[in-house]
Amino acid sequence: MNQFLGVGILYNPSLETYFNLYPDSINYIEIIPDIWFTDNGVGQKDRFTMSPGYASKIHKLGEQWPLVAHHVGFSLGTAGYFDNEYLENVMKLQETYNFAWNSDHLSYSKVHDDEVTEYSTCLSLPLPFDDEVIDMLSSKIKQIKQTIQTPFLMENNVYFVEIKKEQYAEGAFLKKLTEKSGCGILLDLHNVHANATNFKFDRKAFVDSIDLSTVEEMHIAGGNVVGEMYLDSHSGRCNDEVWELLDYVVPKCPNLRGVTFEFHESYFETMGNEGIYEQLEMARSICSKYKEIVCL
Ligand SMILES: [Fe+2]
Repeated sequence: MNQFLGVGILYNPSLETYFNLYPDSINYIEIIPDIWFTDNGVGQKDRFTMSPGYASKIHKLGEQWPLVAHHVGFSLGTAGYFDNEYLENVMKLQETYNFAWNSDHLSYSKVHDDEVTEYSTCLSLPLPFDDEVIDMLSSKIKQIKQTIQTPFLMENNVYFVEIKKEQYAEGAFLKKLTEKSGCGILLDLHNVHANATNFKFDRKAFVDSIDLSTVEEMHIAGGNVVGEMYLDSHSGRCNDEVWELLDYVVPKCPNLRGVTFEFHESYFETMGNEGIYEQLEMARSICSKYKEIVCL
């Protein structure tokens, strides 16, 4: 059974005042390292550069709270290409900031051809749930796990189209992926809610189809409807379905390490500092029914 760190928050620049007002409401900070450095392109000397101001900012956060890293640049679903330079940079970040764990998304955001090593899709695109993808992901995840000695988690993705004739349902796919690769699962409950809303399936039946002993982190967030789709927009407060799902699934996850609230800084005004505090305290009140928080 893993130690439960408690309730964390995904860093964004609107939180600076919040950190001073409610420091004890946060048990850890999740950062997206990619937004702190410049990627000068595959094969470039000194490809990844971080300004001293950013580096000292992360250090300062790390002095006050445990840090975890949520990457967006591995693009592990890109077939035929693994970005070793990106992994080397993650290893350096790990050595510098001592993240409690690392994660990325079950998707791809980069494509390539014979002439150009990397194009960005600017979108996190879904993968088919089949053995070929499991094999491809597993060899890459094993390489990551051998290089960075922390837990490595894959996050279930949100999707807006269904891929027809898949070999596995998503829950069975995640189970097979964890068995073959050794990764843990970052279960984004809001992604589950968004997919269930758009494609009309039962949220609780879905989470019950996953091997919940492999879930090590959860994300909670808010979203909104645009046109005919419910979007994973991180637009402020969690809705009732996400709270209900959190209460349902936390007691079923013996190896849970933390629950992270995500919101985009452009929605800060919809909550304010007090509203963010309420979200974290709501998450803590649910988790505390089933888990003891261990302070690192
Ligand atoms: Fe997420």
